[in-house]
Amino acid sequence: MAEKIRLPFGTISIPERSKTIIIEVLESKRVSNGKYVREFEKGFAALLGVQEAVAVSSGTDADVLALSVLYDIGARRGDEVIVPALSFVATGNAVLHAGFTPVFVDIDRKTLNIDPGKIEKAITEKTVAIMPVHLMGKPAEMDTITHIAKKNGLSVIEDAAEAHGALYKGKNVGTIGDMGAFSLYIAHIITTIEGGIVTTNNSDFAEILRSLRSHGRACKCEQCVLNITSGYCARRFQGKDGEDIRFTFERVGYSSKMNELEAAVGIGNLDEYHTILEKRRNNLMYLLDKFKKFGSYLESIHEESFERIGPHAFPVIIQEGAHFTRNQLVNFLENRGIDTRNLFSSMPTQCNGFRFLGYKTGDFPNAEYIGNNGLHIGIHQDLGKEHIEYFLDVVEDFLSQKAGK
Ligand SMILES: Cc1ncc(COP(=O)(O)O)c(C=O)c1O
Repeated sequence: MAEKIRLPFGTISIPERSKTIIIEVLESKRVSNGKYVREFEKGFAALLGVQEAVAVSSGTDADVLALSVLYDIGARRGDEVIVPALSFVATGNAVLHAGFTPVFVDIDRKTLNIDPGKIEKAITEKTVAIMPVHLMGKPAEMDTITHIAKKNGLSVIEDAAEAHGALYKGKNVGTIGDMGAFSLYIAHIITTIEGGIVTTNNSDFAEILRSLRSHGRACKCEQCVLNITSGYCARRFQGKDGEDIRFTFERVGYSSKMNELEAAVGIGNLDEYHTILEKRRNNLMYLLDKFKKFGSYLESIHEESFERIGPHAFPVIIQEGAHFTRNQLVNFLENRGIDTRNLFSSMPTQCNGFRFLGYKTGDFPNAEYIGNNGLHIGIHQDLGKEHIEYFLDVVEDFLSQKAGK
């Protein structure tokens, strides 16, 4: 019976409310960025207790656009942004796409996050921001990071792509820095299928973000930026000397709007958020507890008393000296219906696209170790205790077979 159990990596919930809105939107033919995107943004902001949320096309774009806001406050192309060496590759890509140079800092292997003790050494006169990543929903050490940033006049942009539902000292992750960037891709807790959203308490930044997602547009009226009033631009002839400013562009922008169909999925997900979060948290906490018994061979992360890990996925790291390889474990799990993903890579030394920056293998030993020995599995809302027990049994089986050899 147990053999029939499968643990797919991800899932998606499309609640009835989403389906109703989707049909209404399709029939109305007003499908591009409009009133439902705005409703979703307001709901997301309210959930996090933050003033503004600006929806975009992807989590990567959320990173890119948040970084691009820095040009409005004095940053120049080619300036530097400090990021952890280990993350999903989108973090490093986003820094380059925004026109900055990523400066990588190794991680702490226990937290999987940027090692705060190594940040100051990486700061130069070109540094404009620190972009910590809350990997696997585990909050980065924000007190130290914000302290270093303040001391050195740097902005903080949180890559909270994987950190829906995470708390750091009572605060929602993604609301602690100057801006937070979330992914809304399918595997994430709140999803719009494809999508991303930037959170901020700075209304000027929000206005810049709305301009950036729409080609750097100058007009700030709802028709141009939010597309929620009917008819023509409300400020059509309100530019200087009464000229038409609909096609006036103030900054280098992007085409990165969310559409109404995606927002509809997001609105339904917001309604279900607490249920989804609770199911995922139950899976995560159960696993974190039971997994301790494999401690001589396999590790995961640990939840500190001052934090709540956002239940994105469950990371597994093969301990040094274990008598098996990641491939062996992955094959064993996959052959028994358990989907796995590697736990990303050291971007500067294990991802080809960053070679031109000149880093070499060995520069980031902790990130590289995880890149070679880490994996993660899904803990989403369609999985329950029987799936988690099955996973634990399969791991136990694997370890006893390996021990027997
Ligand atoms: C840490 C991190 N940053 C950025 C992204 C990019 O998000 P998206 O895939 O929505 O572009 C992801 C994707 O999951 C991620 O894990």
